[in-house]
Amino acid sequence: MNVVQDVRTERHPFLTGKTKRMLIDGKWVEAASGKTFESRNPGTGEVLAHVAEGDAEDVDRAVAAARRAFEGPWSKFKPFQRQAILLRLAELVEQNFDELSALDTLDMGAPISRTRAMRQRAVGLLRYYAGMATALHGETIENSLPGEYFSYTLKEPVGVVGAIIPWNAPLTSSIWKIGPVLATGCTVVLKPAEEAPLTPLRLAELVMEAGVPPGVVNVVPGYGETAGAALASHRDVDKVAFTGSHVTGQEIIKASAGNLKRVSLELGGKSPDIVFADADMETAVPGAGMAVFANSGQICSAGTRMFVEQRVYDEFVGRVAKFGDGLRVGDSRDPETQVGPLVSEQQLERVTGYLNIGRQEGARPLSGGERVTEGPLAKGYFVPPTVFADVRDDMRIAQEEIFGPVISAIPFTDIDEVIARANRTQFGLGSGVWTRDVSKAHRLAKGIRAGSVWVNCYQAMDPAVPFGGYKMSGYGRESGIQQMEENVKAVWIKTA
Ligand code: NAI
Ligand code: MG
Repeated sequence: MNVVQDVRTERHPFLTGKTKRMLIDGKWVEAASGKTFESRNPGTGEVLAHVAEGDAEDVDRAVAAARRAFEGPWSKFKPFQRQAILLRLAELVEQNFDELSALDTLDMGAPISRTRAMRQRAVGLLRYYAGMATALHGETIENSLPGEYFSYTLKEPVGVVGAIIPWNAPLTSSIWKIGPVLATGCTVVLKPAEEAPLTPLRLAELVMEAGVPPGVVNVVPGYGETAGAALASHRDVDKVAFTGSHVTGQEIIKASAGNLKRVSLELGGKSPDIVFADADMETAVPGAGMAVFANSGQICSAGTRMFVEQRVYDEFVGRVAKFGDGLRVGDSRDPETQVGPLVSEQQLERVTGYLNIGRQEGARPLSGGERVTEGPLAKGYFVPPTVFADVRDDMRIAQEEIFGPVISAIPFTDIDEVIARANRTQFGLGSGVWTRDVSKAHRLAKGIRAGSVWVNCYQAMDPAVPFGGYKMSGYGRESGIQQMEENVKAVWIKTA
C-alpha cells in the first residue's frame, strides 16, 4: 500500500534513532572498528542517522562473503530464479516507493517532486534487468579450421563486483548497479557515498526481503579514501563499477592494476547544449534550463555549456535566466519546490567558488550568482539557478565541471564552428541540440563526441538505451545490453 507521506511533518519510518548497520553476508552488522559517521539533511543540517563506518576490514569481510556466495549457492540459481527475485524486488520497490523517495530527499536534498517522479525509472530498471536474466546467451560460431570442430561461446558472470556510487541519485544509482549483478549471476559489494548512504541501506533491506541469498548483495557504507579505496584495490574483486568524479575515476584505474580487475567508469562532464535560432523556443527555454537546474545541477550529464546561435543569443539567454528566476527554490520536502539545496557544505563551497571564478573571468550573471543568505534557506546549502552570459570557451566555468545550477552561455554563428567548439572539452558524456531542422539535428548527432545526444529534449533515459561516456567521461555503458558485461568463454569441441 502506498501511503503518501508528508515528509515535512512525519518522522520517516527508516529514521528510528538507532545506528544504521551495514549488510554483510545477509547480516546487519556494526563496523569492525565500531566507528560510525553522521548522515545529515543538507536543507536543514539536521542529523538524520548515525551510520556504521566501514573500512578495509569490513570490505574484506564483504568481499569474502560475496566470493562464497558467487561460488556457492548463487551459482546454482537458474536464470528464471534470478528473474523471479528481480521481479519481486521491483514489486517491493514499487510498494515502498514513497518511503524510498522521501529518504533520498531527506538525505541528499533533491526536491520531493523530483524523487517521487523516479518511480517508473527505479521500477522499470529492475523489470528490465529481470527480463535480461533469461535473455542472455552465447552463440554458436562457424569456424574455418580443417577437420571437424564445433565452436561456441558461453557467457559467464564476471564474478564479485565492487560498486561505488556518488550521492546525486542514491536510489536509482544503487539499482543501476545491483540490477545487472542479479541478472547475470554476479555478486556485489556496494559502497554508497558518505553524503547519502541511507536509501542504499533501505534498498538492501528490500533486496533481502526479495529472497536474494546472503552474500550476494553486501552494502558497506564509509568514506572514499578508506572503504572505497579498499574495494577498488581489493585483489579478490573481479570488477569495479564506478560512478563519480573523473579524478576519483583515475584513482580507481590505478587501484585496479594489482589484479587487472575490470573497470567501468561513469564520470563527469561539461556537456554542450546547442540552441539554434530556428528552435521552438517554447520548449527550448525550459528544456535548456532544466538541463542544468534539475537536481541543482548535480547530474553528471547536465548541459552546462549552453551554445546559443548569435542572432537569438541575447533573447534566448535572457529568457532562460528569467525561467531560472521563476523556479521555486526551497525546502526539498515541500511538494512545490523545484530546486533544493546542494548536497553538502563542501559542494556549496565548490559551487560558490566557481561563481566567483566566473565573475573574475569576466562572465556576467543574469540570474542567481550567489548563495541564498537570507531567510530560512540561509542555513541550508542553497544556490539559485544561475545563468552566466558573455562566457568564452577558454574560461574555467566553460571547461570545468561545477556540479551546481550554473549555466555558461556562449554565442556561436555557424554549424561547423559550433561542432568543433562543442567538442573542445576533455569530457564527452551528454549533449543537446535544439532545432527544427532535421538535417542539422543529424549532423550534430554524428558530429558531437559524446555518449548521448538529445535532440529537442534533454536527459531522456531508458533501461534499454545505453548510457556512458566518451573521453574523460569514462568508459563502459550502463543500461542496455552493453551493461551486461560478462566473461565470454570460447568452447571448442572436436567432433571427428
Ligand atoms: P567522488 O568521485 O570523490 O565520490 C564518488 C564516490 O567515490 C563516493 O562513494 C566516494 O566515497 C568514492 N571515492 C572517493 N574517493 C575514492 C577513492 N580514492 N577510491 C574509491 N572510492 C572513492 O566525488 P565527490 O567527492 O563526491 O564530488 C566531487 C566532485 O566530483 C563534484 O563536485 C562533482 O563535480 C564531481 N562528481 C561527479 C559525479 C558525476 O556523476 N559525474 C558524481 C559525484 C561527483
Ligand atoms: Mg570525494
